[in-house]
Amino acid sequence: MTLSFTLTRNERLAEVSTREAVLTDPGFGKHFTDHMVSIDWTIDEGWHGHRVEAYGPLQMDPASAVLHYGQEIFEGMKAYRRADGSVWTFRPDQNARRMQRSAERLALPQLPEADFVEAVRQLVQIDEAWVPSGGENSLYLRPFMIANEVFLGVRAAQTVRFMVIASPAGPYFAGGVRPVSIWLSREYNRAGRGGTGAAKCGGNYAASLLPTQQAVANGCAQVLFLNEEGTDLEELGGMNVVLVRSDGTLITPDSDSILDGVTRNSLLQLAEDAGHRVERRPVTLAEWRDGVADGTVTEAFACGTAAVLTPIAALKSPEETIGDPDAPAGPVALALRKQLTDIQYGRAEDPHGWMVQLTEAR
Ligand code: COI
Repeated sequence: MTLSFTLTRNERLAEVSTREAVLTDPGFGKHFTDHMVSIDWTIDEGWHGHRVEAYGPLQMDPASAVLHYGQEIFEGMKAYRRADGSVWTFRPDQNARRMQRSAERLALPQLPEADFVEAVRQLVQIDEAWVPSGGENSLYLRPFMIANEVFLGVRAAQTVRFMVIASPAGPYFAGGVRPVSIWLSREYNRAGRGGTGAAKCGGNYAASLLPTQQAVANGCAQVLFLNEEGTDLEELGGMNVVLVRSDGTLITPDSDSILDGVTRNSLLQLAEDAGHRVERRPVTLAEWRDGVADGTVTEAFACGTAAVLTPIAALKSPEETIGDPDAPAGPVALALRKQLTDIQYGRAEDPHGWMVQLTEAR
C-alpha cells in the first residue's frame, strides 16, 4: 500500500529572517517549524486521515482522556544536514518499533513502522529549510501519540491521534560537550517493577521533574535514579547512563524499568566494533563509588537522542561526591561521541546502514 498524506500548506510561513535567526541560535525545544503531521485512529476505522498541515495549537475538548489520565507516548529523533545539503535521519525504524512497544504498555494502538517513517519524511521534506547546518545543530523531531477520546471513564481510549512536530535544536546542555555533574536521588524512584519505566510515556518524565528541580538546586544538570532497593543504577531524568572501566569495558544497567535507548544501543555497538567489551547487567552504586576510588572506573557518560553523549564528571548527593566535578571529558566518551556524530553528519562511513536519507543534496 502506498501511503498518501494530504498536504495543506501553511499560508503564513515564518519570515526568512525569523527562521534564519532561529537557525543561528536554536537552543533546545523552543522554536517550531511551519508544519506538523497528524494521523488519526479510531477503534472502528483504524489509522486514517494522514495529513500535513500548518503548525498550530490543537483544539481539544477539556474532557480528552490524555488531559486526565496521561495516556500519551512520544519519541525523540533528529534530522541532520550534511555538507552537500542533503538531510538524513538516524535509525527511524528503531524509534518506530520502540513507539509500538510503548503503545502496547499504554494501551494505545500500534502505528505501522511505514506510517511512522513516512510521517517523519513528509515533515522534514516540507520543512527542509528549518534543518540547521553547521556545528552540531539538527532538527529535533518529536513524534507523539495522545488519547483524544472525550470520555472520563478510566479505560483505553477509542480515539487517538499520532503527530509529528519539529524543532531546530542546538546542544541539550548549555555547555555542549562539557562534562556535567549529576544528582543522585535517594528520595524518589523513576519507575518500579512492572511499571511504565521502559515505555517512553510522558508520566515517566513528569515524575522526574521534582527530583530534577532538586538536582538543579544542587548545581547538577540531571538526576540519577536508583532501583527500588536503592542499590542499582537505573537511568537519568531523560537519558541512559554508561560507566567505563580502566580495562576499556563499558557497563550499563540492564533493567526492565529503563528506556531502551537508541543512542545507547548505537554507542555500545560502535564500542564493540572498536574492540571494547560491553556488559549489560545490573550495575551497583557501590561499583561506581569503589571503582572511582580504586581507579577501575575511569569515565561515566549520559546518552540519549537529545543529549547525544554527555560526559558525567561527578555524581553528587548530600552524603558524598563520586568523581571530580572539574574532571575533563574522558577519551573513550569523546571518541565514541565523535564516531557517532561523524556517522550522523555523513563525515564517516555508516557501517551498519543506520542513516536514512530524507532529502536530496542541494
Ligand atoms: C530525547 O533524548 O530525545 C528525549 O526524548 C529525552 C528528553 C530529555 C528530551
